[in-house]
Amino acid sequence: MERFVVAGGARLAGEVRVTGAKNSVLKLMAAALLAEGTSRLTAVPDILDVAIMAELLSRLGCTVVRAGDTVQITVPERPGHEADYDLVRRMRASIAVLGPLVARCGEAKVALPGGDAIGSRGLDMHVAGLTRLGATVTSEHGYLIARAPRLTGASVWLDFPSVGATENLLMAAVLAKGTTTIDNAAREPDIVDLCQFLQSMGARIGGVGTSTLEIDGVEGLHPAEHRTLPDRIVAGTWAVAAVLTRGEVFVRGGRAEHLEVALDKLVQAGAVVTPGVDGFGVRMEGRPRAVDVVTLPYPGFPTDLQPMVLSLNAVAEGTAMVTENVFEARWMFVNELTRLGADVRTDGHHAVVRGRERLSGAPVRAHDIRAGAALVLAGLVAEGTTEVHDVAHIDRGYEGFVDKLVALGADVRREVVPDEPF
Ligand code: EPU
Repeated sequence: MERFVVAGGARLAGEVRVTGAKNSVLKLMAAALLAEGTSRLTAVPDILDVAIMAELLSRLGCTVVRAGDTVQITVPERPGHEADYDLVRRMRASIAVLGPLVARCGEAKVALPGGDAIGSRGLDMHVAGLTRLGATVTSEHGYLIARAPRLTGASVWLDFPSVGATENLLMAAVLAKGTTTIDNAAREPDIVDLCQFLQSMGARIGGVGTSTLEIDGVEGLHPAEHRTLPDRIVAGTWAVAAVLTRGEVFVRGGRAEHLEVALDKLVQAGAVVTPGVDGFGVRMEGRPRAVDVVTLPYPGFPTDLQPMVLSLNAVAEGTAMVTENVFEARWMFVNELTRLGADVRTDGHHAVVRGRERLSGAPVRAHDIRAGAALVLAGLVAEGTTEVHDVAHIDRGYEGFVDKLVALGADVRREVVPDEPF
């Protein structure tokens, strides 16, 4: 077990580079399964979740080779079709192989991920959608099993623009017989990235970037090469860090157009955001003002930046209401933030945060990737030292987090936690 030890009082200044998006690359890797041969992905972040997906693909018979930020995936003629519980429970995004495997192999058996730290996260829309495409989907002994000799195109309406369901259905529909429409589809930039990779593999997809995707199934796809889009959540994390520490940071590679609502909130908090050629700058002077935030599917305020904005509001001037509409259990993090002295009350979907002049360092636990990052940010402005435990969660999504913080002037180090006696 490792922890980060964060000394409060740093002002972040300088430049930080954003790598490829976790939530995009994991699905790109799954999509590679759709074609026999070697696909090549570049700008792949060096994070734990990518290593887990690489392991999953290897167990399906693929050869996965990493060189620098390039990952080469060679898919055999007949890949395996089973994703084991030991990997799926570590990374829920493993469910992304369900669609490609059933489309490619006629059968997919993927362990049910179970609950996680940010909610129960159902799979009903994945199942209903695949069923509409002609698959028989059952659940046995903790596995979701989908079977279809050949999927057939159909109209699918999603009750909620689920990112994961949209992706699984897209990856299934590209090899289905006939035309599929997905209505109320998610519009996250990660979905656009996936569509573009699938198109370069030979898929025929219309309405890319809109809430209605129209897919004309093809007989087969070919391997392709693709550059992963920059991670908007990581970019947004650095932007909030700059505001929180009253610093000045240039987020190299960050795409301001993918963060419009979030950056606008930071401007409301008092920051100056300056678009640049290959990134954007964020500068903050003085104490931030509290900002109300409502999380929504893209292009709304991203749920993955909600914990960071809660940290920001915890030291801002005034009171803010933060409303979480995407994940019901994301408030687990609040208990940790209150250990640092934050004044936060939650009620249902809402959290009321009364800004305090200061937070005070304490040991806290990261329950998930984003909560972990948000606790580190809070630790940067807390008096004294904050120990963030269970940092493996942060490693799942942030490449070189400590090194990048140190390069920006923070006093943060990684430590191995000595074994506890029981
Ligand atoms: N939902 C259902 N049924 C379904 C699918 C989703 O009820 O069949 C519910 C979920 O329970 C949740 C909501 O719909 O309450 C949104 O779920 P969605 O499917 O959109 O999210 P996801 O695909 O599970 C991805 C990201 C999350 C990100 C969300 C929303 C990956 C690997 N994960 O999750 O990222 O928060 O979209 O943008 O792409 C993170 O990176 O820390 C993270 C949690």
